[in-house]
Amino acid sequence: MQGGKRILLVIGGGIAAYKSLELIREIRKRGGTVRCILTKAGEQFVTPLSVSSLSGDKVYGDLFSLTDEAEMGHIELSRAADLVVVAPATADLMAKAANGLANDLASTALLATDKPVLFAPAMNVRMWLHPAVQRNVDALRRDGALFVGPDEGEMACGEFGPGRMAEPARIADAVDRALSGPAAGPLAGKRILVTSGPTHEPIDPVRYIANRSSGKQGHAIARAAAAAGADVTLVSGPVALPDPPGMRVIRVETARDMLGAVESALPADAAVFCAAVADWRAAEQGAQKIKKTGAAPSPLALAENPDILATIARRERGRPALVVGFAAETESVIEHAKVKLAKKGCDWIVANDVGAEDGVMGGDSNTVHLVGPAGVESWPTMDKARVAERLVERIAAALAEDGRA
Ligand code: PMT
Repeated sequence: MQGGKRILLVIGGGIAAYKSLELIREIRKRGGTVRCILTKAGEQFVTPLSVSSLSGDKVYGDLFSLTDEAEMGHIELSRAADLVVVAPATADLMAKAANGLANDLASTALLATDKPVLFAPAMNVRMWLHPAVQRNVDALRRDGALFVGPDEGEMACGEFGPGRMAEPARIADAVDRALSGPAAGPLAGKRILVTSGPTHEPIDPVRYIANRSSGKQGHAIARAAAAAGADVTLVSGPVALPDPPGMRVIRVETARDMLGAVESALPADAAVFCAAVADWRAAEQGAQKIKKTGAAPSPLALAENPDILATIARRERGRPALVVGFAAETESVIEHAKVKLAKKGCDWIVANDVGAEDGVMGGDSNTVHLVGPAGVESWPTMDKARVAERLVERIAAALAEDGRA
């Protein structure tokens, strides 16, 4: 897909720089060429020799190098590419780019370029969550920058959370999308979060509370959003479906895990909450398998789970521009969905009838009603993939119309 495309890769100073070597190989494998700027801090993590050997080109590092400037000036360097990728994008590089600083070759190239810039942030979780970094990320997004990641996980510093650089293959997917341009899809450059599947709430090590959701509808929405060019994060409960390609998938088990994963995946331009989250969990989880004693079983005490949709929809800071909930009802579907729309504070509710005879949970088709402030739109029964495509078309139109995100 990247045949003949030229990537200028800026490698910042972070432990994730080692992954950028793999990224160079991945881009070249897909037919692109890579020219690299290695910052002074980046040189602490990878050597110019490894970068040059893998890219098959000279490595640039010094703004005031007479020979470099004579061969290819920094302005030309930043413009000769079809896309600029910053990986790892450190807090420092993003702060400079967001504020127009140009005191080294990397920041100067970022300021001088007239090409799209894709950032793959990588830093400690506390740094990533710091309001100053988030402000810079918001400013860069407003300036039209694209982002891939960061992912959540164990970090080199021993902490856990969002901040880990996206895997090279995922960055290369984002490069493909960015190079295809806006024509690639109505959601190009948008970040979409989707939840899918059931949650499992353990009672003891072998038993759990669950529901019949298969993840088919939620996964179809994630796939449709990715096909429309979005950078998708899918947070999925336990399902038998394979992870859809071309997106970040976070697998979780319980409602509380799902809330954590959703929060870590923000910011997003739109979030679609299709998961069938268990409203309750066992108040106490048995450390061992609960035994039959012959006596009458004691009733199972329940505790209420957090409401993920309401939590995100009512956020004051970092709320996605469009929050879409689902409503699974077995009677008075539209009336109950309207109540949920108001109660949860989301923008739209997609209501569906999950009565046993319709076989929506686990089945391949769905009959939905889109409930929003403007009223109710009932769609004919369709394959879940088509429901997903249509919903994604509506999301793209809403984001474009309001200039949201
Ligand atoms: O997975 P499939 O087999 O394809 O089936 C699809 C589906 C029927 C599960 C799907 O279309 C659907 O209706 N999903 C929402 C299921 C649900 O939990 O509905 P609800 O009415 O109980 O919840 C309303 C909304 O609040 C939902 O967006 C839900 O994700 C959210 N919620 C609910 C409880 C909770 N603790 N946290 C939540 O965020």
